[in-house]
Amino acid sequence: MRVLSVASEAYPLVKTGGLADVVGALPAALAPHGVETTTLLPGYPSVLKHLGKAKPVRRWDDLLGTPARLLPGTIDGHPLLVLDAPELFARDGGPYADATGLDWEDNWRRFAALGRAAADLAPAFDLLHAHDWQGAMAPAYLRYDGADVPSVLTIHNIAFQGRYDAKVFPGLGLPEAAFALDGVEYYGGVGLLKAGLASADAITTVSPSYAEEIRRGEFGMGLEGLIEARRDRVSGIVNGIDPAIWSPETDASLPARYTARALSRRRVNKRAVEAAFDLEPGDGPIFIVVSRLTWQKGMDVLADGLDALVAMAGRLALLGSGDAALEQAFVAARTRHAGRVGVRIGYDEALSHLLQGGGDAILIPSRFEPCGLTQLYGLAYGCVPVVARTGGLADTVIDANEAAVAAGVATGVQFAAVTPDGLHHALRRTMALYAQPDCWTTIQKQGMRADFSWKRSGARYAELYRSLIAA
Ligand code: ADP
Ligand code: GLC
Repeated sequence: MRVLSVASEAYPLVKTGGLADVVGALPAALAPHGVETTTLLPGYPSVLKHLGKAKPVRRWDDLLGTPARLLPGTIDGHPLLVLDAPELFARDGGPYADATGLDWEDNWRRFAALGRAAADLAPAFDLLHAHDWQGAMAPAYLRYDGADVPSVLTIHNIAFQGRYDAKVFPGLGLPEAAFALDGVEYYGGVGLLKAGLASADAITTVSPSYAEEIRRGEFGMGLEGLIEARRDRVSGIVNGIDPAIWSPETDASLPARYTARALSRRRVNKRAVEAAFDLEPGDGPIFIVVSRLTWQKGMDVLADGLDALVAMAGRLALLGSGDAALEQAFVAARTRHAGRVGVRIGYDEALSHLLQGGGDAILIPSRFEPCGLTQLYGLAYGCVPVVARTGGLADTVIDANEAAVAAGVATGVQFAAVTPDGLHHALRRTMALYAQPDCWTTIQKQGMRADFSWKRSGARYAELYRSLIAA
């Protein structure tokens, strides 16, 4: 089975978040199930640099108004295709925004062109798998082309929708009829994610809970009606983690590598975390955060709760970047609580590994979370997840309530309300568990034993692909 996977990021070539980890991991996750995945990415400078010299395998004179070439390569040994369209992708800055953080004005054209190219290539494959709004036009083009290629669209985050003014519609190169309620029209404008959701043969979310949540206004962000209408096509497949990158036994970013049988070795890493974040050394717990600093992630609630965390003798090591106001709030907290709160504003892959390998508990107070990967890394590393009970966080962490602790199945702490009180209560519970070393170690080990490799989820995607191809 040959699948074309189209997305705007893939680890290790370009990453702004979990989407990249998942798109990067899928080819290896699917290979054992007889699926060969070819990944199609935009030709950002970082991606072209990785390719080096490559001979184009296809050219477009006019891909939604611009010339483009298709360059072949590999990503971790799996086939890669890169859409080289300099007018669209050869820019400094991030994949979606310029260096000042402002979204590129022509993002609709950039990612519609990616979708157009994917649809042109798809007939040479058995199935097309598109990711998020940036890949979502691919199933829409297939549909209006009348192409006989089944398609899957995965929603990694329904909050990002690719919504534009109606005046961009002519630039999409679609028939007039596509500007309709069951097409790309969205609240009077154009919706790229919406167009894909209306067109794909199957829709997946990255956890079962999120598939249910987005049927409701609270989580659906305006698309709940469409999701509800297409509910027979929607299913949730939880993300896995790539053990080649995330295993404490082999992780080159850790001063001390370890297994569940030798957890005391984590102490060496904890000292390294203290040093890296200017924390007073000590045996009390270090809470960690590795996150985009945004409202989705509940980082405002954490910022407000920091004084309470310090008052109960907790320490915090935070790595993240995002909203300027939140960055400033954490920097101010570091000054207020020197030695107790350590903050690193920025993006640092190696440091994120050290935090998971040396921190005691990872805080994830998200208001919504389609899946979340950092709690899975926490589980694998014995860094106990303390999470809001939502989406993939609810699906992957087993709360250490009395019964679960007694049964020895708990893997973390969940809390319901993302409010200062809710967080405060969760922190207190975590401190109490930490104060009972046997209990804490059991929770750590139980988390490390939990299987969040891609084995099961890879099989589920392959099964979904097969059923669509058969139909
Ligand atoms: P999201 O995709 O919504 O940001 P996920 O938990 O799915 O959330 O994935 C986030 C990914 O980005 C993880 O791999 C996490 O380790 C990584 N990450 C987030 N912020 C940083 C940072 N400041 N430095 C290094 N890695 C980060
Ligand atoms: C999105 C979601 C996150 C998910 C990731 C990978 O970024 O916010 O919850 O883990 O995609 O699927």
